[in-house]
Amino acid sequence: MVSTPALAVNSGRQYLPVPATDNPSPNQFLLPLTAKLNSQDHLEVGGCDVVDLVAQFGSPLYILDEKTLRTACQQYRQAFQQYYPGESLVIYASKAWNCMAVCAIVASEGLGIDVVSGGELYTALQAGLNPETIYLHGNNKSLSELEFAIEQGCTIVVDNWFELETLAGLTGDRPIRIMLRLTPGIECHTHDYIRTGSIDSKFGFDPQQIEKVYEFISQQPSLECVGLHAHIGSQIFELQPHHDLGAVMVQWFTKAAQYGLPVQQLDIGGGLGIRYTESDDPPSIDEWVKAVCLGIVQACESQGLTLPKLIAEPGRSLIGSACVTAYTMGSQKVVPDIRSYVTVDGGMSDNPRPITYQSVYRAAVANRMSAEMSETVTIAGKHCESGDIVIKNAQLPKTQPGDVLVVMATGAYNYSMASNYNRLARPAAILVHEGEASLILERETYQDLVRQDRLPERLKQ
Ligand SMILES: Cc1ncc(COP(=O)(O)O)c(C=O)c1O
Repeated sequence: MVSTPALAVNSGRQYLPVPATDNPSPNQFLLPLTAKLNSQDHLEVGGCDVVDLVAQFGSPLYILDEKTLRTACQQYRQAFQQYYPGESLVIYASKAWNCMAVCAIVASEGLGIDVVSGGELYTALQAGLNPETIYLHGNNKSLSELEFAIEQGCTIVVDNWFELETLAGLTGDRPIRIMLRLTPGIECHTHDYIRTGSIDSKFGFDPQQIEKVYEFISQQPSLECVGLHAHIGSQIFELQPHHDLGAVMVQWFTKAAQYGLPVQQLDIGGGLGIRYTESDDPPSIDEWVKAVCLGIVQACESQGLTLPKLIAEPGRSLIGSACVTAYTMGSQKVVPDIRSYVTVDGGMSDNPRPITYQSVYRAAVANRMSAEMSETVTIAGKHCESGDIVIKNAQLPKTQPGDVLVVMATGAYNYSMASNYNRLARPAAILVHEGEASLILERETYQDLVRQDRLPERLKQ
């Protein structure tokens, strides 16, 4: 459990991490582990003053804390070493935030990586990752994506019959290493859009067909089926579904042996949730890993099986809490008796989660962290869309144009889902560590926005 500081008044300070243990789990905090106040009452992350960062790098700005990200990677690995007597591997689901610097950090912590497109794969390779640690996912991979991954020596997580038959038709000098994604039929209480493990899902083979799939593969010398995969959903706070998943997957695992397939790996996906608001209470990384390992170990013991290599592929819980987005505040509008709006210089283009999933966030004013939260306001983005609301009914101090607003826990599915809607240039991202700030993603320019545009001769003015 996370304790919050006792304060006479509510202020942005209440969001600062107050670790109750020596090795706090990053996913249980609203702000990165290094977040603190400095003598100017500004928010500091990774030893850098957020207000100075905005002055130096512009706004909006993604600020990624290296220590928080590395701590989460280390906790996953240590927990698997502690709770799983067999071999294990943690792979980062890079859809959460795929860019070269993030790929390089997770790889340097000994993690593999999951990619879901040729673009994510290319980025990981450009970051210098070993292709043998890369797993290609996706429910409709193109032939060129498949060929690219195979050529590099990555593992393909096969999603459906069409893909399986396509792969079987490819010839090469060595067998293609594959895993099979199955839909486990496990329900969990999360938002409908991010629930992928129930039977009505666009992802994965129907487990009813598993024997047919095994039989087909057993007749394909060009396919080497090394493992099975399932992912039940995202932003999950319950431990039971992941514990139960072990037993389901072990059943599939035992059947593979009957077809002579060399299946030795089980990948239980990702899904551990993070704290976006005070009322979110996710389990720690350690608790989640323990539940997962126990599920597999118990299921294997009951069947007298040797433990498979166990793989997990968390995304959000590795990187979500490691980042804040800093905005500059602008215009304000009061709709009498209804609502007060304050605005920021970004919105749904840098964080589409509120408009897509009705996701809720917390924010604070980085240049006055101790100011009393005296107002309830709706923080609107600057896009031409009424639904472009960053936070509805946020508690903030009285703000003015020019204040720096930070929105918390924006590391996962923000940059990676960002767009150029309204031709807004995508923000820069910086990595902060021990007082140093390094640019990891340049801010897009107007020139970047028109780079792919072509003006046919006859339209030229
Ligand atoms: C196949 C697969 N693996 C891993 C993940 C990562 O999930 P999370 O970010 O919730 O850990 C996802 C996300 O949806 C996924 O689809």
